[in-house]
Amino acid sequence: MSESPLHMHRLPLPPGPRGYPLIGNVLDMRVERPWLTYFQWGKQFGDVVHISALGQSIVILNSAKAISDLLDRRSAVYSDRPRMVMAGELVGYANSPIMISSGPRHREFRRLFSEVLNPRKVEEWRPLQEQKVEVLVKGFMEAPEAFREHIRRYVASLVFEISHGHNLKAQDDPLIRMAEEVDRDWSQLIIPGAYAVLDVFPFLQHVPEWAGFTFKKEARNYKKRLDESIDWPYQQVKDQIAAGTARPSFTASLIERKQNPTKEDEFTFKWTSGIFYTGTENIDLRSVSSLASFILAMALNPAIDRILILDGSHSERRPTFQDRRDLPYVECLIKEVYRWNPVGPISVPHRLGKDTDDEYRGWRIPSGSVVIANSWGVMHDAGLYPSPFEFLPERYLLDSNTNSSDQMNPDPRKFAFGYGRRVCPGQLLIDDTIYIAVVTILALFDIGPLESEEPRYTPNIISHPGPFACNITPRSR
Ligand code: HEM
Repeated sequence: MSESPLHMHRLPLPPGPRGYPLIGNVLDMRVERPWLTYFQWGKQFGDVVHISALGQSIVILNSAKAISDLLDRRSAVYSDRPRMVMAGELVGYANSPIMISSGPRHREFRRLFSEVLNPRKVEEWRPLQEQKVEVLVKGFMEAPEAFREHIRRYVASLVFEISHGHNLKAQDDPLIRMAEEVDRDWSQLIIPGAYAVLDVFPFLQHVPEWAGFTFKKEARNYKKRLDESIDWPYQQVKDQIAAGTARPSFTASLIERKQNPTKEDEFTFKWTSGIFYTGTENIDLRSVSSLASFILAMALNPAIDRILILDGSHSERRPTFQDRRDLPYVECLIKEVYRWNPVGPISVPHRLGKDTDDEYRGWRIPSGSVVIANSWGVMHDAGLYPSPFEFLPERYLLDSNTNSSDQMNPDPRKFAFGYGRRVCPGQLLIDDTIYIAVVTILALFDIGPLESEEPRYTPNIISHPGPFACNITPRSR
């Protein structure tokens, strides 16, 4: 980092594509699948690219080294989040653990997460995880063609049991309905550019409604639904605790840890447990996408099944968490699912703190820069993962056997779950969910081949395979 502001000011910005006068690279930012554009820029300009959109500096990191240097090692200053006037401030997502600015509240969220999602607590959920996977097995047996629906239902029933001790109703469950509603709202709010004018001219939020802007009314509607979704499930658990009927859950353990909580405590508790069904972290979205990718990978690579996987000792019974250490190929398969088509191809944007410019490799990173890690780009860097577009679980086995550079084929979870002080706190929990589903499906079902065209992945921030059909049959009766 630099010593003098004057010296800093003379430093060049990192290279990048030229933009237009005034608007800068705004149009470049509105592309679909931005990770592909960023990847190209990485080849053209290098692994650290600077662009600007309406005066806002944006830095894109395209290598593991640059990501680790800035977002991990200098995490103390690179852990803020960008301002989003509509979704964040008017609707209220700026209160959520994922979007909140760095500071005391963010630290409090992280502390709560580490209390309720530490390795010991996560382990306590394993019996439930093994039990709930039954939803998936039953669905695959009865109507295998609707596999995606079964994955959704499995994840949802697990999520709401863990988060609120809520047992899903067979039909039309009110929590599911609510989660789907806020999920739809969130997708509207984060369409790139949908409310960009407010981010550029935040004073517009103060313009009175009669001046013809409709966004205030829209914001009120979104906010009402979001507030309800944060308050209502929390209140239910609180009432159940008072009545002595609460089941063990993430929310109950937050409430029970403190007698006479203040308003501020309750605020953080509600948003902490709301993370399971609001916004990008909607567990449902990310884990359903990962499991859909697993099914697709198996359908496209039937050869994998033959060199598999579960050794003879498991043929008489269903694999459990106890078996995980003895199933190295399953471990590789899961890593490759995280890498091959990651559910979050670009990281949730970070922001360099507002007070200081930073220096990196002789470049100036202006204070307040939005910093985006192209995680997809790193996970498709042929120097790190040879033949990056192929689904090759054994790449992780080869690595340890050949004793080649330990820089090759690193665990993709390093990139899939984010960086520094913002790294995903749900990683251990969700990794268990994915493991038990994968190992159970492998033990009980043959998957493939694909019976439709190969689907494209959706172009959004959470990317999942489009619809596809494949043959799923039980291995035995
Ligand atoms: C396959 C499943 C999941 C994946 C791939 C995933 C990935 C991510 C990523 C990439 C980030 C952004 C990190 C960054 O900004 O550098 C993140 C943040 C976060 N995740 Fe997850 N996540 C998953 C599931 C979950 C679950 C189940 C929870 C529930 C507890 C969760 C809670 C969070 C929270 C609270 C944040 C915000 C952390 C912060 O900003 O401090 N995630 N996740």
